[in-house]
Amino acid sequence: MADGEALCEAARNGEISSIKSLIDSGGDVTYFDKDGLTPLMHAAKHGHAEVVKALLDASAPWNALTPSNVSAGDFAMDAGHQEAFDVLLNTAIQAELILGTIARKDNAKGNSDGNYLDDRVTFSEDKIMDSDSKAIMMAWEKPLMEAHAKAVCSNGGHILNIGFGMGLVDTAIQQYSPLSHTIIEAHPEVYDRMMRAGWGEKENVKIIFGRWQDVISKLETYDGIFFDTYGEYYEDMREFHQHLPRLLKPGGIYSFFNGLCGGNPFFHIVYCQLVSLELESLGYSTQLIPLPVKDCLGESVWEGVKQKYWQLDTYYLPVCQSMSESE
Ligand SMILES: C[S@@+](CC[C@H](N)C(=O)[O-])C[C@H]1O[C@@H](n2cnc3c(N)ncnc32)[C@H](O)[C@@H]1O
Repeated sequence: MADGEALCEAARNGEISSIKSLIDSGGDVTYFDKDGLTPLMHAAKHGHAEVVKALLDASAPWNALTPSNVSAGDFAMDAGHQEAFDVLLNTAIQAELILGTIARKDNAKGNSDGNYLDDRVTFSEDKIMDSDSKAIMMAWEKPLMEAHAKAVCSNGGHILNIGFGMGLVDTAIQQYSPLSHTIIEAHPEVYDRMMRAGWGEKENVKIIFGRWQDVISKLETYDGIFFDTYGEYYEDMREFHQHLPRLLKPGGIYSFFNGLCGGNPFFHIVYCQLVSLELESLGYSTQLIPLPVKDCLGESVWEGVKQKYWQLDTYYLPVCQSMSESE
């Protein structure tokens, strides 16, 4: 039997001593069997936590996927194997903290190939698309945007939103009559459209055209901040977070579109934890409020859209507050 097959079998059976000797004799921990499963996935699926740990210690990739996009963490989670799940989650978080491997490849919506801001965009009633038929923003997110607006406006005062898109969150923010409502938008066509729709004439609205990265020094301080851009990586959002201590008033509330790894349940959990840890290191606590989204998302929603950027049943709405204030 090839060493990869032997590893898969020992992993399935939880034979830790066989696993160790196969690893010591150079067994291939990255092997995929005929069903597209790795030894790590077999161990996770059967809840053999010690085997999971041995394979991870031998550099088995925690983020390998089966042909139907299932990871070892998903197997452990679906079967309710808490210990194996915890080992995988901790390893994944450590790996992403150090390497950010998924963050560099994946982002909430779209991808950063080419410069989205130079591309044409197409507007329709229920979505905005980029030139590659990827959705920039979709109407199914309306209830989520309303919940985000409610969160960031809960103290009233001065509100900042980054990324206008379809204006869903901004329309909802207006319902709370904030003292001021600043919107940053970088795409010329989205900007033109919002101006034509009269956003420039609203009394409490201030619109700043440009990339947030280029205009950030002009910003003041805010009671509520929402962040939802397109065509950027997780690392861009992480860079934005570095500015929060200057932008968010004491007691203020920050939230962001939480589409992190929205195509895979386990990766999503990894990124929810990662972003919470990174915000914690800046002095913010993050509460993740579960919102069911299954009912807003029939198959027809994605007709004509190249990539489903969201495939999970629950959306976790982040509400972040300075820890010194929320104590
Ligand atoms: C997903 S949409 C925002 C949707 C919005 N939350 C809503 O409720 O309709 C993202 C928006 O961010 C804009 N954007 C992308 N990169 C940006 C950047 N660096 N600075 C400011 N806006 C940006 C895009 O042009 C797009 O309009």
